[in-house]
Amino acid sequence: MAQFGEQLTTDIRAVIADRAVRSVFQPIVELDSGRVVAYEALARGPEGPFEAPDALFAAARDAGCLTELDQACRAAALRGAVSQGLLAPATVFVNVEPEVLDDAPVAALFDPELPVPGDLRVVLEITERALAARPAELLRTVERVREFGWAIALDDVGAESLSLAFMPLLRPDVVKLDLRLVQERPGPAIAEIMNAVNAYAESTGAFVLAEGIENGTHLTMARALGATLGQGWLFGRPGPGAASGARPGTLRLPAVQPAAPRGELVSPFACLPARVPVREAPKALLIELSKQLERQALRLGETCVVTSTFQEARHVTPATRLRYRDLVERVGFVAALGEGLPVEPMPGLRGADLAPGDPVRGEWDVVVLSPHFSAALLARDLGDDGPDLARRFAFALTYERDTVVRAARALLSRVAPSTGQRASTEDGDVSAVPAGVVSLLTGRSAGDPGEALLHRALAAVGTGVTIVDLRLPDQPLVYVNPAFERLAGQPAAELLGRNCRFLQDTDTDPAAVGRIRAAIAAGAECREVLLNRRADGSSWWNECTLTPVTDETGAVVQYIGIQADVTDQVETERALLTERDRVRRYAARIAELDPRVTVPVSLPSPADGPHASTDSPGARRA
Ligand code: FNR
Repeated sequence: MAQFGEQLTTDIRAVIADRAVRSVFQPIVELDSGRVVAYEALARGPEGPFEAPDALFAAARDAGCLTELDQACRAAALRGAVSQGLLAPATVFVNVEPEVLDDAPVAALFDPELPVPGDLRVVLEITERALAARPAELLRTVERVREFGWAIALDDVGAESLSLAFMPLLRPDVVKLDLRLVQERPGPAIAEIMNAVNAYAESTGAFVLAEGIENGTHLTMARALGATLGQGWLFGRPGPGAASGARPGTLRLPAVQPAAPRGELVSPFACLPARVPVREAPKALLIELSKQLERQALRLGETCVVTSTFQEARHVTPATRLRYRDLVERVGFVAALGEGLPVEPMPGLRGADLAPGDPVRGEWDVVVLSPHFSAALLARDLGDDGPDLARRFAFALTYERDTVVRAARALLSRVAPSTGQRASTEDGDVSAVPAGVVSLLTGRSAGDPGEALLHRALAAVGTGVTIVDLRLPDQPLVYVNPAFERLAGQPAAELLGRNCRFLQDTDTDPAAVGRIRAAIAAGAECREVLLNRRADGSSWWNECTLTPVTDETGAVVQYIGIQADVTDQVETERALLTERDRVRRYAARIAELDPRVTVPVSLPSPADGPHASTDSPGARRA
């Protein structure tokens, strides 16, 4: 087996060394005119086991030579385009494998020996994943690519919400919609994507290109989504060169202008145009302004990017950490910079230590950018040495999109490459929905637009939602939504990692608790109403509906809890029962005094209601 693996490694390396990778070209059509204005180059291996691109890339990944293969594919694309005469006015779209940008120097994109004649028009396709992994490097690369005269396409838009968040930062000339958008039934996720893409295209003139158009219905949908360019089997399958019989046309790229001055590492404060008024404020006001922007970002969710600076690591207080943990959980990309801040100050939060002499060390910046909202608090320390909260800053609050984009790029240009670790549930840092939970619950894959939607829905819903992991000692909470935080009267940080029983009190019905324990032991669903108590001493009747979640082997690994405050209902029922008892007592008394009198009492008997007794108002089982 090992020998077989070694053989494959040798083979894939030979494929690369022998330049055996070739390109096929799929037409890209202007939807209005039906003219073929461009081709996307798609890699193919030599005839045999590596012919299909999936097999080719999988073998290179296993052999650790993905970067070399990626470069070979681009070289084959450019050589093929030249030899097939796909020169101006045609344009050729070439790809970069996202994983390559995860850990290879961007220089690998450009092979100095590649023949790139002046009349070869190239659009480089990148995904948002590359920007998330190595923001500083990718932004520089995009500049270099543009200097080179090539244009940029953002690929697979809609597959991940983050692509919408990064769109204004990358400023692609072409937005390529993921094929699911034209092929699947429209839902809220598609509406969100369309809203963001149309806004971006309207303000920049960028083209929208729909992929996966295979029939007339897809074409109608592509147009409805705002696409003016299309690609898919309806227009032609990939072939060795120009599509036969195609009417050629010209793709007049909009030349989307970069939003930032090139090269220099400017500071966000320096991005402020002269017309934006700069005022003075004490630190106490900046704290509140920052929190307000953070709250706005929380509402914007997955399509939002937040970048902040903290001067020094000591300013990231425990309270700030809690707020940033919420941001990391709900916002697409969050970065924090400051002197002494690590590459990943907490799971999922991207960071960087600011170099000595970097002007950003003297700044307090909070930049919030999403498809429809942009705001930045940009402040510079005036160097006071009085009480900390009275320290003054020169500051501006701006909502001008271009300035905010420039400020965000200035900070992202300093963010360190990703360590490759996702937000973990170690060290009690478990505020995010644990990786895989959503996919476990819904059967959706990570990055599915529906996953982001579900995540947001859980955050917005008014009923408490919790997830408990049975694989961890004492069945702790690994997820709580904001409604549960409100119910329990404590922030997520205090709740996560604990078994819910700490909410119970001496008055909580032990029989109901016992039924929950038995249901969990049996992996069964259950519903009970329990008296719970908050840290401040107040109590509430908590209707808990607990549903088991199984893994692919059918083993129960987690429980989802839906917790509703039914205090009003329980109290009304108790009052009703008390009233009934009182009336019954009177009736009995009257009957005692005069046996000829009967008093009809039409109040519900205990057995009619959902609750078996006043002591245990919730003995309801699903
Ligand atoms: C619970 N439990 C629970 N208990 C409670 O008093 N208030 C609550 O909100 C919840 N929520 C909750 C959610 C989920 C998903 C699970 C699995 C359980 C019940 C609690 O954690 C525990 O299972 C019961 O107290 C029975 O176990 P013990 O205490 O007898 O070990």
